[in-house]
Parts: sequence; C-alpha cells; structure tokens
Amino acid sequence: MAGSTFGNIFKIASWGESHGKGIGVVVDGCPAGVPLTEEDIQIYLNRRKPGQSRFATPRAEDDVVEILSGVFEGVTTGTPISLIVYNKTQRSSDYSEIASYYRPGHADYTFDRKYGFRDYRGGGRSSGRETIARVAAGAIAAKILQSLSVEVHAYTKAIGNVEVDMEHFNADEIFQNMLYMPDSDAAKRAEKLIDEKRMQTDSVGGVVECVVSGLVAGMGEPVFEKLDANLAKAIVSIGAVKAFEIGDGTKVSKAFGSENNDSFMADDEGRITKRTNHAGGILGGISDGSDIVLRAYFKPTPSIFKEQRTVNREGKNINVNIKGRHDPIIVPRAVVVVEAMTAITVLDMMLMGMTADIHRIKRFFDDLR
Ligand SMILES: Cc1cc2nc3c(=O)[nH]c(=O)nc-3n(C[C@H](O)[C@H](O)[C@H](O)COP(=O)(O)O)c2cc1C
Repeated sequence: MAGSTFGNIFKIASWGESHGKGIGVVVDGCPAGVPLTEEDIQIYLNRRKPGQSRFATPRAEDDVVEILSGVFEGVTTGTPISLIVYNKTQRSSDYSEIASYYRPGHADYTFDRKYGFRDYRGGGRSSGRETIARVAAGAIAAKILQSLSVEVHAYTKAIGNVEVDMEHFNADEIFQNMLYMPDSDAAKRAEKLIDEKRMQTDSVGGVVECVVSGLVAGMGEPVFEKLDANLAKAIVSIGAVKAFEIGDGTKVSKAFGSENNDSFMADDEGRITKRTNHAGGILGGISDGSDIVLRAYFKPTPSIFKEQRTVNREGKNINVNIKGRHDPIIVPRAVVVVEAMTAITVLDMMLMGMTADIHRIKRFFDDLR
C-alpha cells in the first residue's frame, strides 16, 4: 500500500493492521545522540491506549512498545528506529459479518472499490489502531523538540456542542478528567452528553486544539512545504478528522482586515512580536515566532449500535446492527495523536529549515573544522 510514509528529513513509515500481528513504525532521519528509552514512548502510547475510561473502546490492549533498532546504550544511533506494538486481543470473529457489507461512515466501500478486496478485521489499515505508529514516532519527535525548547500540547476543545470556556482555561485540569478538557465544568457537561448519546446507541464528535510554543520565526518552506500546509496534511490524515484550522480558522472569512491583521511591535531589545495572534503563528507558510494554534475537527464515531441501512457486497439493500468494540467518542484518545502528528511535522520543518541560508550552512561547517 503506497502512502504510508510521512515527512522529509524526520521520516516515518507506519505499518500494521488492527487485527494483524502488530502495529509499528520505522523512523528514519532521527538524529544520533538522542537519549531514548521504551518508557519515553510508552508514556505517550498510554494516553491513547484503549479501555482506560468508559469513553474509550473496551478492547483491552496493553499497547506495550518494543524498540527493535536504532538505539544503542540508551541513545539513538542515527540509523532507522523500528518500533513494534503487538496486538494481543484480536477478536476477528466480531468482524466476520462486516466482510459481506459496507459499514456506513467507514472505509469498507472505498477500500473494496480501490483494491477489489479488503482486510475487514476491525477495519484493517483504516482502523484507529494505526495511530499507534504516529504516537510512537511523535513521542520521539516531542522529546527532540523539548531539548530544543519547543513544547507541543493538545487538549479537547469541544465535545459536540459543549465547548471549553477559554476564560476558565486551566492547563492543570487537562489530565484530571477523562476527556482531557482544560475546563472541569465543560468536562462534566461533555461527559453527560456522551453518556446520554451512548444510552441512545449513538456517538459524538468534537474538536482537539494543539498549541506549539517556543518555535522560532522562520520555519516552513514556500511554496509546497509550507508549515501550515504540512500541518494540515498531517492532521487531516488522522482517521475521522474532517476539518483543520489554524489561528482564527474559518472565522477569518467573516472578519474585516482591520480585525484580522496582527500588528507587529518591537520590544526594548528590538525583538519583534505581534500584539494579537489571529494568524495562529504562521504567515506565508513560515512560523512567525508566536504560538502555533491549530484545531482538528473529529466526526462522531461511525460504528454505532443502532440499526442502520446499507448495501452488501452483492449490491443488495440491507439493514445492519454493527457489533465489535468501539469508542463512543474518538476525541479523547485522539488528543495525543494530534499532538504527535504536530510534533513530527514541526521537527521535520525545523530540520529542513537548517539549510535555508548560506550563513547557517557556513556556521555548521565552520563548527566542524
Ligand atoms: C484514535 C482513533 C480511534 C478510533 N476508534 C474508532 C472506533 O472505535 N470505532 C469506529 O467506528 N471508528 C473509529 N475511528 C475512526 C475510523 O477509523 C474512521 O472514521 C474510518 O476509518 C473512516 O475514515 P474517515 O472518517 O477518515 O473517512 C477511530 C479513529 C481514531 C483516530
């Protein structure tokens, strides 16, 4: 299957199916000398692991990562880092029925049309389990970014019509509720909404917001490797993401120029900043030194336990009742996936940015002399 690699210098190749032997990723282009342990990666994977709350699929997987290559005596060697997570509780029998029909909202029909057949066990390659690869690689990217004083943090901004009140934003709250919301009141209301919809055998969507702080101005390559263009690709490639926003996002179409422009200001030392950040930290595809603020809009989980109308592989109209283990809402488990894809993209763009001008290149080689 083509299309499983992402990145230019910090490159990842994601592999594996939901109900195959395992899921993994090969990270090529990771610099040598980065201290890296399985625990560094496990911390990130635990945030996306299933079965942690009543808002996640009950499929009980430990998702324990093993480093197969690219690390020697606790540091990266500069060679490909191969990571594997074995699937432990495949129950493909839950899915044998869906081999014969197309689940609404899923990729069954499109995979069949594209390849003539599909791995129907839990969605195969289109399963949310594929995001293990992204999170594992993202943990490495985030660790490198931290050493460069760049932080990437994501949280749940909205569940259905329940939105975080940004005036009550409390970063300490994010890990205190099952939905990763930075507002305890909104989290309580959102939990109620999900419980209600679950009782009605329905599902809910939502929004994940991600903030990158500490990134210097000047990262991003015009014109096809713009920072925002690559972030959009990274985020929209996550299953169930239906829209991407940067800064004020779709709101800009209703704003006036005088409202939307961020005026620049120079501080006493001559450093240039912006008074506001409607642009979300990127101008002309290049970071402007402000925080990067992006949002991923997730649809409600397609697998719902209501009777639905669909078509089988013989082209007959049928009614179906989907079985299996599913997330009543995708958003909480996807928070770390958004964070991971953002970290991978930002690091890749920073590494690309190192060759942008001759003075930088000269400094690099002068250092080696
Ligand atoms: C972290 C994560 C978990 C997911 N869990 C489920 C799930 O339990 N049940 C389900 O029907 N879809 C789940 N999905 C979504 C489907 O994989 C996705 O909607 C489907 O492949 C169709 O792709 P599309 O929505 O991008 O068009 C999940 C997605 C992600 C990112």
